[in-house]
Formats: sequence, C-alpha cells, structure tokens
Amino acid sequence: MSEYNALIAAATKVRENAHAKFSNFKVGAALRTPGGKIYTGCNVENATYGLTVCAERVAIFKAVSEGERRFDAIAVVTDTDKLTPPCGACRQIIWEFCGDVPVVLANLHGKTETLRMNQLFPKPFDSSNL
Ligand code: THU
Repeated sequence: MSEYNALIAAATKVRENAHAKFSNFKVGAALRTPGGKIYTGCNVENATYGLTVCAERVAIFKAVSEGERRFDAIAVVTDTDKLTPPCGACRQIIWEFCGDVPVVLANLHGKTETLRMNQLFPKPFDSSNL
C-alpha cells in the first residue's frame, strides 16, 4: 500500500471521462490538498487540436477555481507501459500552483514511478524571476 493509492485510483477513474476522440490517448490526473481532498481532471480535446487541455491542467484549474491554493501531490494515469510524464506546459502550471511536489505516474496495471517536480522541471521561470 502506498500513500498515493487513493490518488492513483481517483486519476484512474476520471480517466474514463477523457474527451480524447482525436488522439485516443486518455489521461487522468488527480491532485491532493494537504487536508486530503482530491481534485480530478481528464484531457479535453478539441477539433482544432491546439485548444486541447491536458488532464493535469484541468485538475489544477478546477481546484484553484474552488479556492484551493495548496497541494501536496499529483498523479497522472494512462493505459501505457511507458508511464506518461506531464507535458512542458503542464510542468509550468504544476510548478506555479504546486511547487516541488511528488508527481506520481501510473498505468492501469499497477506500474508506478514517483518523481519530484524539481527533477522534471529543474530550472523554472516563476515569480522569483520577476
Ligand atoms: N495529455 C495529457 O492530458 N497529459 C499529459 O501529461 C500528456 C498529454 C493529453 C493531451 C492530448 O489530449 C493527448 O494526451 C495526446 O497528447
């Protein structure tokens, strides 16, 4: 049992709601607050392709719009043997709102890997640069 099991389960469940009719690549994300509340998101694609929003950003924007500002972990679930790390745009947004949190990657068959944001995004541009 890992402390991330509930987060992975939530990301696995919301992945089923992915609107991924162009790529057929369904992604689920789940974000945890220090109080243990979980916010989820799936990727939402668009016919223009470029307006697609990734699962991680959907989860973060849902949580932020509900007033949450502190997070302690995020999970990303796909149905792939090679685990899926957040894209570059999502790394910027995760850093902005979550900082150096654990990023839990998982697939549907129990494979997991946990990385920290400072590994995935070692030299960020953020408000400390302004
Ligand atoms: N995608 C995510 O939702 N999160 C990631 O971490 C990687 C990519 C989505 C975007 C698009 O809908 C599909 O996966 C293929 O790129």
